[in-house]
Amino acid sequence: MNKNSSRYFELVEMITLYNKKYYVDDDPIASDAEYDSLFRELLQFEEDHPDLLVDHSPSQRVGFHPLKEFKSKAHSKPMLSLSNIFNQEDLTDFHERQLKALEAKNITYFCEPKIDGIAVSLLYEKGILTHGLTRGDGFSGEDITQNIKTINTIPLKLIGQNFPDQFEVRGEVFIDINDFEKLNSEAKKTGDKVFANPRNAAAGSLRQLDSKITSSRPLKFFAHGIGIHSQGLPQNLEKVFEYIQGLGIPTNPLNQLCNSINECQSYYEDILSRREKLNYEIDGVVIKLNSFAEQEALGEISRSPRWATAYKFPSEEARTTLESIEYQVGRTGTLTPVARLKPVSIGGVTVSNSTLHNFDEIERLDPRVGDDVLIKRAGDVIPKVVKVFPAKSRQHKITPPETCPCKLGMPIQQSVSLVWEIYDQEQQKRIKTFLSKYEANEFLDKNKGSSLEIIEKSEPLSSYKCTGNRSCPERIRGKLIHFVSRRAFDIEGMGNEIVKLFIEKGLLENFNDIFNLSSHSETIKEFDGFGTKSCHKLIQAIEVAKNISFERLLYALGIDEVGEATSKALARAFEYPEALASASFKSLIEIEDIGPKVASNILDYFADDFQKNEFLNLGSILNIIFPKTVTNNALSGQIFVITGSFESYGRDEIKALLEQRGAKVSSSISKKTNALLVGANPGSKLAKAETLGVTVYNEKNLAKLLSDG
Ligand code: IVH
Repeated sequence: MNKNSSRYFELVEMITLYNKKYYVDDDPIASDAEYDSLFRELLQFEEDHPDLLVDHSPSQRVGFHPLKEFKSKAHSKPMLSLSNIFNQEDLTDFHERQLKALEAKNITYFCEPKIDGIAVSLLYEKGILTHGLTRGDGFSGEDITQNIKTINTIPLKLIGQNFPDQFEVRGEVFIDINDFEKLNSEAKKTGDKVFANPRNAAAGSLRQLDSKITSSRPLKFFAHGIGIHSQGLPQNLEKVFEYIQGLGIPTNPLNQLCNSINECQSYYEDILSRREKLNYEIDGVVIKLNSFAEQEALGEISRSPRWATAYKFPSEEARTTLESIEYQVGRTGTLTPVARLKPVSIGGVTVSNSTLHNFDEIERLDPRVGDDVLIKRAGDVIPKVVKVFPAKSRQHKITPPETCPCKLGMPIQQSVSLVWEIYDQEQQKRIKTFLSKYEANEFLDKNKGSSLEIIEKSEPLSSYKCTGNRSCPERIRGKLIHFVSRRAFDIEGMGNEIVKLFIEKGLLENFNDIFNLSSHSETIKEFDGFGTKSCHKLIQAIEVAKNISFERLLYALGIDEVGEATSKALARAFEYPEALASASFKSLIEIEDIGPKVASNILDYFADDFQKNEFLNLGSILNIIFPKTVTNNALSGQIFVITGSFESYGRDEIKALLEQRGAKVSSSISKKTNALLVGANPGSKLAKAETLGVTVYNEKNLAKLLSDG
């Protein structure tokens, strides 16, 4: 080895290490500039000395010529699939079978999340990655070596020395959920193919004949087993995973050894509860016998091992029929297409509606009445249509409605939400084609070059709005529902159905009407589902809600794009309602985080005399708590804990009132707590406060404390 070549191998080693620290360990040890400079040096060297180039050089991750087709290659050992179980009873049966077959009293299992990705096999020969194959039919797969090499977390050369001649690792290639979303939103913008889910995105990326495309996709890998190997390995899965990890191959940190079947059940429950927070999709956990000797003793049946099973999570998807498409009108007037479905159970919940988001989504999926659709419901997320299975004889294409569903004959206004100049020529062409379907091209031509409505590029190209503002009952309903919702006025007992009922009965039309409901209590008592008690409770809740912070009031108005953070900023900047209602554009955009779009939404809102007067009138009905910074008073720096419920205040209101006076509100009692504020039905906190000798106040004391403070 001469001096030149030793520098070359040093470069290969260094860049490989930097890559591992960056991609696998999430712990970068080199600056971008240093990395780039070494990489340039490496490329230069390989250009000058092509004879020295090694297969595991980091430069070999990209830059291959596109293939004409993938070659098929036999697996040296079949890649098996897994049997499924679905509940605790199945798990007990699985365990019983293992105990019986092994004549054992106890079994140790190795448990892993079941990743929803693509199974691949990686072959390392003398420590160098030489082959990457898809699972295919289990006996042979496609040779995707050059695509596998683009995956940054997969080492091209294993860490260490004295590797077995052959060592095959099997595992799952997948794509993180947020990377998948980024990929799709880019694809939407450029008119490329949009993937239905992360698994399809991973599969599509691995199946590219041009590995440059694969290299632009953020694929990841977790090992979940081994194939052939020419040297003795540790005796169980737990140890093999440690070994694999030591070689620099990624394994899932959530894998766990379980010493009993109860531990396996707890593992399943634990992973299920974390599922929503994970950044990759999983559809269950895999339970495997830990010992290889025990695995061998059990063998396999119909291409699945007897020694492992997939304990599946309840399904998040179901197929059903699309019965109709309707339009929901939000408080801002924007129409959202909603799919009405033949009711179907997903994970124990009956789903009969599902969102189609916007008209771009309808363009993309082309759902038609009578088609079958695949619905996905993940956690708290609103069920959505992810795929359409066209019916044999199809109904007509869905086109945007001409009037608002409020059926008052209100014309729909197509708001072209874009700043023309930010799109490149190709995108402009695509937008024009899109709009021509709705005869909006002329509108666009006329307005080209002027700022129409400024929105982020990632928003849908067009949205439909009802032009009727206060005259659209659907919009009014949306506004009122938002006004009383939890993060706004938080009126207990006033859910969506009650709001709808009161509108129907003519008791509610605007915000002020809510605070006049007490004058209709005789009527309300007679409504279905109401009685003297519940009516009284509702009126009480409305009275309590009258104590409201300025920021919550602003949020409750439902001004377009004015969320909680903006409301807070506005409440701080304008000390009373009149000041905000007559604010200038300039004074609004001077506030941090308020841009021209939000400022003009605020101006538009108060330019409407009705809305302005309604807001000012609320100021005289409500007890608005304005933010004031207090530095020096009796409550300043005191730590309060609140427990139980209060007659005249909401808990959040008390918190705001105390904080305004410089106090802190904490959720648990400790020695540091200065006072506990007790309402009706306090929990264990009262007893704890008494043991710790913390001062206890009740609701009556609170009024005094607040007026003193
Ligand atoms: S073990 C013989 N472990 O699930 C055992 N598979 O239905 C073979 N999968 O084709 C696989 N995560 O693609 C195993 N932690 C995991 C897994 C896993 C996902 C996939 C794999 C396999 C399929 C079997």
